[in-house]
Amino acid sequence: MNQPTPPVPRAEWKSRFGFVLAAAGSAVGLGNIWKFPYITGENGGGLFVLIYLACILLIGLPIMIAEIMIGRAGQRQPIGAFEAIHEKKNAWSGIGWMGVVAGFIILSFYIVVAGWAMDYTLKSVVNFTKPIEATAAAEADSFIASASKDEIKAFLVETKVAHELRPKQSLFESQLTKQESNSYDRFAAAIEAAEDKQEARRRLLTDEDLKRDVRKVEEINKKVAKAKFEISNQVERSVNVLTERQLLAEAKTAKRRALIFDKMATAFINTATNGWQSLMWAALFMMVTIGVVAGGVAAGIERACRILMPTLFALICTMVLYGAFQPGFAEAISFVFSPDPSKLKASGVLEALGHAFFTLSLGMGAMMTYGSYQSSKEALLQESLMITFLDTLIALLACMMIFPITFSYGQEPTAGPGLVFMSMPLAFAEIGAGGMLLSILFFGLLFFAALTSAMSLLEVVASYLIDQKNWTRPSAALATGLLTLAVAVPAAFSSDADSVLANWKGDYGMDFFDTMDHLASNWMLPLGGLFIAVYAGWVMPRRVQEAEVKDMPGWAFHTWLWLVRIVAPALVIIVLLQKVGVFDIDEIVAGFR
Ligand code: TRP
Repeated sequence: MNQPTPPVPRAEWKSRFGFVLAAAGSAVGLGNIWKFPYITGENGGGLFVLIYLACILLIGLPIMIAEIMIGRAGQRQPIGAFEAIHEKKNAWSGIGWMGVVAGFIILSFYIVVAGWAMDYTLKSVVNFTKPIEATAAAEADSFIASASKDEIKAFLVETKVAHELRPKQSLFESQLTKQESNSYDRFAAAIEAAEDKQEARRRLLTDEDLKRDVRKVEEINKKVAKAKFEISNQVERSVNVLTERQLLAEAKTAKRRALIFDKMATAFINTATNGWQSLMWAALFMMVTIGVVAGGVAAGIERACRILMPTLFALICTMVLYGAFQPGFAEAISFVFSPDPSKLKASGVLEALGHAFFTLSLGMGAMMTYGSYQSSKEALLQESLMITFLDTLIALLACMMIFPITFSYGQEPTAGPGLVFMSMPLAFAEIGAGGMLLSILFFGLLFFAALTSAMSLLEVVASYLIDQKNWTRPSAALATGLLTLAVAVPAAFSSDADSVLANWKGDYGMDFFDTMDHLASNWMLPLGGLFIAVYAGWVMPRRVQEAEVKDMPGWAFHTWLWLVRIVAPALVIIVLLQKVGVFDIDEIVAGFR
């Protein structure tokens, strides 16, 4: 005869503080440390940061409250939670299913980047920057010894002009819409191909629309050329007054830094394009994550976060302190904190909104799942405020840690994972012996941050098997972890020249890796967030909702309700429509000018 299995008591956090730390651990991750600084750099700093903060407050925080509320009320992970609240099957479980799929997709590239962080931590232990620095110094010496004085002068001028021109140039070019530059590019290519260039130009410019675009681009190009001319004169004058000793010293430093940068870039590209190695590190990272998740909610996730989160915080503060003594600190602070409307494109607003979801781990049920391990019905507002505050604080500190170094070493805040893996070691190489320690700390920190985030992603997927299918925790963690690893294989090999995927380009010419990121972060999370907001604001039974907010001040509850019913959904819908291409914000704004 079959014995009915006794119900296993549901896992629970040991304390409220433990829950807050774990949720903050989920929120603080690669999104804060590489993605936020780089998109801030791309969008011109100050004003972008301000808008991002507004998005966090108006959309992120309310949806955070909604997710934790649903999880606490349902006491299930996202697929089961809606069913439990309504005591019958319903379509809202679809949010949970989408979350599971999004979890796999995000993990597939997340663990690859996290694996690189582990790789770089080990590389730092063997002091990989030292030989790079040494070769670069030797090569710079031989350049100075063999080049003529005019060549050296020309090199220094060119380096300085390029550095000073870049921010001005991108400022000018940001005044162009995508459509304007595209139509100009096509025009230029047609002229290039034509035999009689004068005649071709005259014929093409009979088109009024094209004429307007071409004129605008040519005006911008003229401005760039003028800026270049002015900067060149200025730089040449300043280089001419240098004594020979100063000239040689400056040129040598510039040459050495340029060489170090090239070599760091090569080192990173070698890492990123080595599919087998990337996969091996990703697998190792996955094993650690599986181990923690298998350990359970309180003994695994909560305990790991109790140690890792304060350590992470201390490490970041150390790096910020180091940055405070660098020459680029003032420039970095003003870059991050002083709003300059001329530097922000309207589409940057939309990017800020998308990132708010990613960085707070919203839109796929991670916060719902973590909330479901809490039986308390109190302090929903305080918890959400605390998690959001910690995540935002660390994102801002990450900027204050990275940009002083970037600016001090004459680097631009360039794109992608490269910012962290190429620019930071540049500073570590210069610092020498202490740099090795900082390098270990920095990449170790990146690894910790990624680990506490990946845990939450895996937990969403594993908890489905645990809650709904009665699997034991270790087998659920192992099964979903291994499945994730299988999904990560193409991401690991996506830039390996030997793999078939190297030539695989998605719709926007992105490789597999970027396509996964784009699909999950820009589509699935905002869509999931939209449904969660609508559910919490309009559909969730009043009685269940009120039980969760008993201790929330009335005004706070009503503000939340208003945000989650109207403001958040409306803003998300605008973003999605823009992404579908129904309209182009930049063009609409340009139309008003
Ligand atoms: N928030 C994490 C970061 O900033 C990533 C992350 C963890 C995440 N869990 C998530 C993103 C759930 C979206 C959904 O790196």
